[in-house]
Amino acid sequence: MCGIIAVTGGDEVLDVILDGLARLEYRGYDSAGLALTTVRDDATVVDSDLEGVAPVTLWRARAADGTRSLDHLAKQAEGASRPVRAGIGHTRWATHGRPSEGNAHPHLDCTGRIAVVHNGIIENHAELAAELTGAGHRLRSETDTEVVVHLVEAALAAGAPGLAAAVRAALARVRGAFALAVLAVDEPDLVVAARRVSPLVVGMTSSSAFLASDIPALLGRTDRFYVLDDDQLAELRPGSLVVTTLDGDPVEPVATTVEWDLDAARKDGFDDFMSKEIHEQPTAVANTLLDRVHADGHLVLDELRVGHDVLAGIDKVFVVACGSSYHAGLMAKYAMEHWARLPVEIDIASEFRYRDPVVDEGTLVVGVSQSGETVDTLQALREAKRKGARVLVVCNVVDASMTREADAVLYTRAGPEIGVAATKTHLAQITALLLLALTLAQVRGTLEDADVRLLLGDLHALPDKVGLAVDRGDDVLAVAEQVRDASAFLFLGRHVGYPVALEGALKLKELSYLRAEGFPAGELKHGPIALVEPGTVVLGVATRTGLWEKMMANVAEVRSRGATIVLVANDGDEETAGLADAVLWVPATHPLLSPVVDVVPFQLFAYALARLHGYDVDRPRNLAKVVTVE
Ligand code: AGP
Repeated sequence: MCGIIAVTGGDEVLDVILDGLARLEYRGYDSAGLALTTVRDDATVVDSDLEGVAPVTLWRARAADGTRSLDHLAKQAEGASRPVRAGIGHTRWATHGRPSEGNAHPHLDCTGRIAVVHNGIIENHAELAAELTGAGHRLRSETDTEVVVHLVEAALAAGAPGLAAAVRAALARVRGAFALAVLAVDEPDLVVAARRVSPLVVGMTSSSAFLASDIPALLGRTDRFYVLDDDQLAELRPGSLVVTTLDGDPVEPVATTVEWDLDAARKDGFDDFMSKEIHEQPTAVANTLLDRVHADGHLVLDELRVGHDVLAGIDKVFVVACGSSYHAGLMAKYAMEHWARLPVEIDIASEFRYRDPVVDEGTLVVGVSQSGETVDTLQALREAKRKGARVLVVCNVVDASMTREADAVLYTRAGPEIGVAATKTHLAQITALLLLALTLAQVRGTLEDADVRLLLGDLHALPDKVGLAVDRGDDVLAVAEQVRDASAFLFLGRHVGYPVALEGALKLKELSYLRAEGFPAGELKHGPIALVEPGTVVLGVATRTGLWEKMMANVAEVRSRGATIVLVANDGDEETAGLADAVLWVPATHPLLSPVVDVVPFQLFAYALARLHGYDVDRPRNLAKVVTVE
């Protein structure tokens, strides 16, 4: 996700901005930029009120050279006049609009006197852009963010009594998530900040005021922090902080002190990135849904780049992916077939490439990849295109290789995932694929609008349910401690529980290096049950998704052979609990959406066992975050 840094006051404004951007690099970015209010030393304004005062100007620099962007910014900044009064900076993780200098923040209004940086998603950016363009504003980027700075400009032109009031007026028009900072020539010492969903923290000293997306960017600058809450607006001036609600009601900010070092701060206080990213899953799911699922029950996947007419002509879907992305595809296959009544084949990408699959113009081949660079999947999609198929990619990285070659793209919005094991990107992938399944059903008319609305309601409820599951790490750790010395693990599931079992086994293998296999529970008696003996740990997906009785029959088979039984069960389901040695509780949800919630305890279980065995959960042995070899 994007990173924001801002500062006013003191004589190190530019250094704080550049250093803060460098500290935000770990969040991942593709471009960066900064804006400064500086005193122009080339002339002195002669004005009755400002006799002898050098004019202030707004200076901006941007770079879209990936991880070299900050170096380029620093070089450009050597040319900025001094002294610098205030500044805002931004590292961009593209969501709307490809990585480019033109899309990099800060964005300026028409006059070039106001600058804004933003982290989040402006849901109604399209309608606001149309309104602003119609009123004569010139929008120059592909981003959702740019509408904000023009709304501020319009509010000032309409008589807003200052920058803070203009930002309030602008944000009253905005729907979606934002953390933003605004700078303007006319109030050169003022940084106006506001947040909704996306985080912002303020740091204060007696002579400066700092703002950042997270504490790491400000560590060492101050130890007095104020975390802004949702729908709050802050006015930062040198040594002064005023906080109000977006409606303008005063708020008494509460200071917090932080003893973290830089590494701990980047993990937001978590022990490692994997646990931080597991806890970011509710937001990853919510952001993937944002501005695509509308209250009136319709879906808008307008970034697909293929029209509904093309989707209506599809007579078969093929999903190709690797690892956890393959499991996400398998989880969504059930929903896609049930809702859209389309045959859905799914294949491991490295197999798909070489088996001369039956694919033609009527086939939609869906590539699923968090990195968008996995060569097995990339080559499989090229093979699909060679055979005439339409290719759609579900990806977490804007402008990744696969997205540039695809006919259509559906981005997950999990933000950068630093842990090698896929967690939040996996949940975001399932969510995006469910949205695609619903879109196909709507286009093909195979679901009534009323049913779609009900399903959208269930989707909207997912982030909270994922949050409940994520917050049960201690309970899962207690279960992991019970079986910490086991050496053989079977994961079982039926229907949508089967790919959840596969993902649970993969997580355990890649994090704790233990022998684990996932099976469809009905397959046990066809061989795998020979593996079961006293001490074998069997983990089953036993949520109420319609095949519970059959699942319990399989559980009885392995129990009678001495296995230790751990079951994922819906909250309050004491009947299932009575059949298990331990339970991993999850909230109930629609059966076809249940993998998004049911997989969480398996992530936590693998994480807990790996930690108990003393392994590095962020960088497991032999694994890479992006597999660019065949
Ligand atoms: C999952 O935890 C692993 N890191 C791995 O299986 C991964 O899912 C697979 O390599 C696919 O990666 P991709 O999503 O970037 O294509």
